[in-house]
Amino acid sequence: MTTYNIAIDGPAGAGKSTIARKVAKELSYIYVDTGAMYRTIALYLLRKGVDAAQESAVAAVLPEIQVSIRYEDQAQQMLLNGENVSGLIRTEEVGNMASKVAALPCVREKLLDLQRELARTHDVVMDGRDIGTNILPNAQLKIYLTASVETRAQRRFLELTQKGVDCSYEKIKEDIEKRDDQDMHREIAPLIQAKDAVYLDSSDMTIDEVAEKVRSLCQQGR
Ligand code: DC
Repeated sequence: MTTYNIAIDGPAGAGKSTIARKVAKELSYIYVDTGAMYRTIALYLLRKGVDAAQESAVAAVLPEIQVSIRYEDQAQQMLLNGENVSGLIRTEEVGNMASKVAALPCVREKLLDLQRELARTHDVVMDGRDIGTNILPNAQLKIYLTASVETRAQRRFLELTQKGVDCSYEKIKEDIEKRDDQDMHREIAPLIQAKDAVYLDSSDMTIDEVAEKVRSLCQQGR
């Protein structure tokens, strides 16, 4: 059985998960959020107080960590050693830790099989940083979704203030720039556009416009 795989890569806050989730729902594919897998490992390390800068310390505890996923009403749930941690991994602290640990080869290696196996056995829309370049080099459709730093920071700021979280636009922008730098300049599987990926800048596009574009690219490719 050949499955249809759509890879969506791009920097933090470009709207990957919103678009990927929407397109997956419309096509009846499963949505695989690979960032959530890195976040799950990051949560474990934060709880244990492991320093992400010490690769040997991280490698030593990795065998204790079982990351698995489950779908509830089409929504991906992250399980950390059987505990559903989906509600705990969305904080900035966990995101920043995830970006640090994602630079470690041992961590990437641990998640590779899980990601590839999901794509081998299901039609997927998978989002992350290295899906088109590294995890699914044969994906039938690859998208590199980005937006200006200002747009991404503004979106995040609005999302948080709407939730009643007290935050500063400048601080969010700084965090995003730092994460971009970490994700784009690491040695292993850095965030770069795959040669055969379609570049989409969502700065001046609505969610519906981006989703429509991805859908039409998908139809052209089938
Ligand atoms: O997409 P996100 O913000 O949930 O991802 C959290 C971090 O995980 C991100 O800063 C980089 C890392 N990541 C990665 O290195 N490779 C992926 N495929 C997905 C995420």
